[in-house]
Amino acid sequence: MKKVVHRNSTSRILGIGLALMLMFSTSLFAQDGDPAKGKQLFNANCAACHNLDRKMTGPALRGVGDKYEKQWLYDWIHNSAAMVKAGDPQAVAVFEEYNGSPMTAFPQLSEEDIDNIIAYAMEPKPEPAQPAAGAVADAGSAGGSSGFSNNVILAALVLVFGVLVVMLYLVNKTLKRIAEANGIEFEKAEKRLPIWKAFVKNQFLVLVSSIALLLIGAYFAYGYMMQVGVDQGYMPVQPIHFSHKIHAGDNKIDCKYCHSSARVSKTSGIPSLNVCMNCHKNIMEYTGEEDLANGYTKDFYTGEIQKLYKAVGWDANNQQYTGESEPVKWVRIHNLPDFVYFNHSQHVSVAGVECQKCHGPVEEMEVMYQHAPLTMGWCIECHRETDVKMDGNEYYEKIHEELSKKYGVEKLTAAQMGALECGKCHY
Ligand code: HEC
Ligand code: HEC
Ligand code: HEC
Ligand code: HEC
Ligand code: HEC
Ligand code: HEC
Repeated sequence: MKKVVHRNSTSRILGIGLALMLMFSTSLFAQDGDPAKGKQLFNANCAACHNLDRKMTGPALRGVGDKYEKQWLYDWIHNSAAMVKAGDPQAVAVFEEYNGSPMTAFPQLSEEDIDNIIAYAMEPKPEPAQPAAGAVADAGSAGGSSGFSNNVILAALVLVFGVLVVMLYLVNKTLKRIAEANGIEFEKAEKRLPIWKAFVKNQFLVLVSSIALLLIGAYFAYGYMMQVGVDQGYMPVQPIHFSHKIHAGDNKIDCKYCHSSARVSKTSGIPSLNVCMNCHKNIMEYTGEEDLANGYTKDFYTGEIQKLYKAVGWDANNQQYTGESEPVKWVRIHNLPDFVYFNHSQHVSVAGVECQKCHGPVEEMEVMYQHAPLTMGWCIECHRETDVKMDGNEYYEKIHEELSKKYGVEKLTAAQMGALECGKCHY
């Protein structure tokens, strides 16, 4: 009998456990959505007007999933104006609370996207981070730009040293010869020669090392000559540490949001600080991942946003401009000589070349650098290899027919279209 009772209580415990698990899991399922993806979507779409914890153009959004029904949120985010128009009481209430400033409609966001955003908004507020002890605020300035000139100095030193050694040896030899000619006896007493004397005496060693030094010197000198005018890898320190990795990578902000003229004009341009403020009126601090190894702490990043505020004269506490601004002088990285004509829209819009093809993995760059050599050979090589995009481009249809007959090929490279002619790139 005891056994039965025992089994009974076990099964009861099991039963209760199962019920608890179910309850727990349904409450988990009710909160489905991926907060990490949600954060991305939020930063790219909503951060211009919303902050999770602060009232901005729109209300603070933390906990908004508890405030409204799911379906209401879908409808609202897809088209809030329509709901206000239809007279939904909750919608009208918020709309009026915010003085009738309308929210953008986001028909392109799927319900899953919205679930993710809500999941992000439902995350508990993080504890204020402890200021990292001895945070290296200036770690960003340890750029790679000094490496190049270091090499040159090193090469020069090596050369000078080599010449010195050879000269010393020659002087020593001549002195000896003169001494011998004058009949002066050498003191052969020193049994243990200092190491450098032993070295100087060993003609073979001296010869070999001078040759080695000369070769090393020549190698560096050659490398230096070849680099004149080529700035591949150039990575200057910018006045504000601006991370393309964080903006274009982590938060998936489109290149053309900031470099809006790349599509339509010759130059791409650096965005004005007003563009930054579209988002940074609301994004006052950095909450993303840190890279402690390089000193990129949250405090460091937040400090950089403060620099932006200082530059545009934005008082974040009172949410207004102070009128005291100082321009940010971004250091220009890519720079072709004046005698070369290069046009962004020709490549980006007409040819459909991706930014990354010429600028490298920008969305991974914590600090921007020049990826391509920007030499004439580089331009020409791509013109030889790249097919011109003909589809849907009326302008090319006729030319294409004629030229493809001439070359007897289906596809045409940019080169065959005439992109190797000197006059196309040189004024
Ligand atoms: C152009 C500014 C703007 C953008 C961008 C924006 N909102 Fe709004 N949002 C508002 C305003 C303003 C309100 C207040 C209601 C009104 O005036 O329409 C609001 C209200 C809301 C509300 C109701 C909140 C409450 O507490 O009642 C939610 C939810 C919301 N927005 C979600 C989002 C989400 C999600 C995104 C991004 C996909 C987004 N909003 C993007 C301006 C914006
Ligand atoms: C949020 C705004 C923003 C976005 C998005 C952005 N950039 Fe930038 N970009 C800047 C700023 C500011 C600079 C100047 C500071 C620097 O060089 O880091 C810059 C500099 C550059 C430069 C170097 C310019 C020079 O001086 O030669 C290139 C190339 C570039 N961006 C390409 C891209 C590409 C490609 C993307 C998309 C993958 C992109 N950017 C996305 C703001 C942005
Ligand atoms: C489309 C919105 C958007 C625009 C435009 C934008 N940012 Fe940001 N910025 C962000 C987001 C999102 C973060 C990351 C916030 C986080 O993770 O908590 C960020 C972070 C930063 C940071 C800290 C990280 C870093 O890159 O060092 C700085 C500094 C910064 N932005 C400067 C700028 C400047 C300067 C511009 C204008 C050239 C600009 N931002 C334009 C959205 C934007
Ligand atoms: C075919 C190669 C190529 C492509 C594709 C390309 N760029 Fe460039 N980019 C260059 C060259 C070359 C320069 C230097 C131009 C100069 O010095 O006149 C440059 C310069 C820049 C600059 C510095 C400012 C300026 O306009 O001179 C920015 C910013 C930039 N590119 C962003 C972009 C973005 C964003 C895209 C994608 C939308 C893009 N580039 C696509 C080759 C390219
Ligand atoms: C990634 C490949 C690529 C690189 C690198 C590149 N180009 Fe081009 N370029 C193209 C393509 C493709 C076209 C054809 C566009 C079209 O359909 O007209 C083109 C067209 C041109 C044209 C117009 C030619 C014509 O027939 O009207 C000029 C000028 C030009 N490129 C200059 C340059 C210069 C200068 C550089 C180097 C600084 C360069 N390109 C680098 C791909 C490239
Ligand atoms: C696709 C574009 C393109 C075409 C076509 C082109 N060049 Fe160039 N050329 C360049 C670029 C870019 C540079 C700058 C290279 C640098 O700064 O290292 C350059 C540089 C030069 C220089 C300066 C020497 C140097 O290396 O700095 C001369 C001379 C020159 N080109 C002559 C010509 C002649 C002649 C032709 C016709 C056979 C021609 N180029 C066709 C893009 C082009």
